[in-house]
Amino acid sequence: MALKHIILGGALAALAAMPASAETVKIGVVLSLSGADSLPGQQVERGMQLYMKQHQKDLPPGVKVDLVIRDDTGPNPDVAKRLTQELIARDHVNMLAGALYTPNAMAMEPLATAAKVPFIIENAATAMLTRRSPYVVRVSFTLWQTALPLGKWAAQQGAKKGYTAVSDYAPGYDAEAAFAKGFTEGGGQMIGSVRMPLGSANYVPYLQRIRDVHPDVVYIFVPVSAAPAMMRSVGGLDFEGAKIKLVSTMDLVPDQQLQTMGDVVKGLVTSGTYSAAADRPANKAFVAAWKHEYGADAWPDFTGVQGWDAMAAAYAVIAKTKGKFDIDQAMAILKTWKNPDSPRGPIAIDPQTRDIIQNIYIRRVENVGGHLANVEFATIPQVKDPWKEFNPEKK
Ligand code: PHB
Repeated sequence: MALKHIILGGALAALAAMPASAETVKIGVVLSLSGADSLPGQQVERGMQLYMKQHQKDLPPGVKVDLVIRDDTGPNPDVAKRLTQELIARDHVNMLAGALYTPNAMAMEPLATAAKVPFIIENAATAMLTRRSPYVVRVSFTLWQTALPLGKWAAQQGAKKGYTAVSDYAPGYDAEAAFAKGFTEGGGQMIGSVRMPLGSANYVPYLQRIRDVHPDVVYIFVPVSAAPAMMRSVGGLDFEGAKIKLVSTMDLVPDQQLQTMGDVVKGLVTSGTYSAAADRPANKAFVAAWKHEYGADAWPDFTGVQGWDAMAAAYAVIAKTKGKFDIDQAMAILKTWKNPDSPRGPIAIDPQTRDIIQNIYIRRVENVGGHLANVEFATIPQVKDPWKEFNPEKK
């Protein structure tokens, strides 16, 4: 009996001798990392890893961060759901992050809510997503945020007749409605819209029909993973020769993949939250660190910076709580998190909506020093998700 006490006492003393804050924070990350999604998925992952490498020293003493990364293999909500269940029940993650796709985010949200685990959306961009769980914050963007100013801009350029072509799922519907609102409020008129199946390999039939109708401007939204397939389809149709202007949101021109899209992409005007070509000092440092880490030919794109900013938000929670937090503490920090100096410019989470407030840039693809770049030429400062402003929450 006495001996047992001594041994137990010894064990307790050993425990007490460990740093008081010895803590591992596990972040479960569900991303699409296969096939056409492997590049954007890898961007998010690289952004997260780069932030961790750069900010290891900022963690409280004894605190470790563990990323547990899972591949949901694309817009597959059932897979995202199963992986999230496992991350919560088996891996006991303290936070969730990820979701390239809206349907996957929708599958993950009820699980985060039930388990009271904070969930940082790293890409999925349908406006309503942050309304579906009190434990969600979004560090990416909404299609309403990017497509509405683009519609306004297109009308300001004198385009009168507009057309939209969007992927046939939730963010596409947001993109379609947002562009149309901006364009018609700017004095233009929408003359048609088409919805295209997610994951199409060939968009020529849709685009050909639009070309025949001859609008002044066509707005295209496809998810970032479909950008190369869409640009291949655009390439054969000579919209420029037909004097039809194509515009898009940043999803069509991710900076890394821009390099392989060819001449067809030159001159394309898009709206977006981030360009690797931006000359903000924070961005210059970010791009240099990215190249140092991933190679001279590597470029971060908007998904990469979203991964980096997501980790910054997670680190804020960890730093302030020394790695031990409950859901209310985590959400209080995440809801008011901001970075005045992100590579994309000043960003902040809107505490009312848990969605991000950020600059929207209008950019044009140009050759800059031998590579293709999204050159920003106009800034709409500090845009909140417009959809939430038009659709106030019913109490
Ligand atoms: C989405 O599914 O919400 C989504 C995916 C890729 C994008 C934009 C939105 O580029």
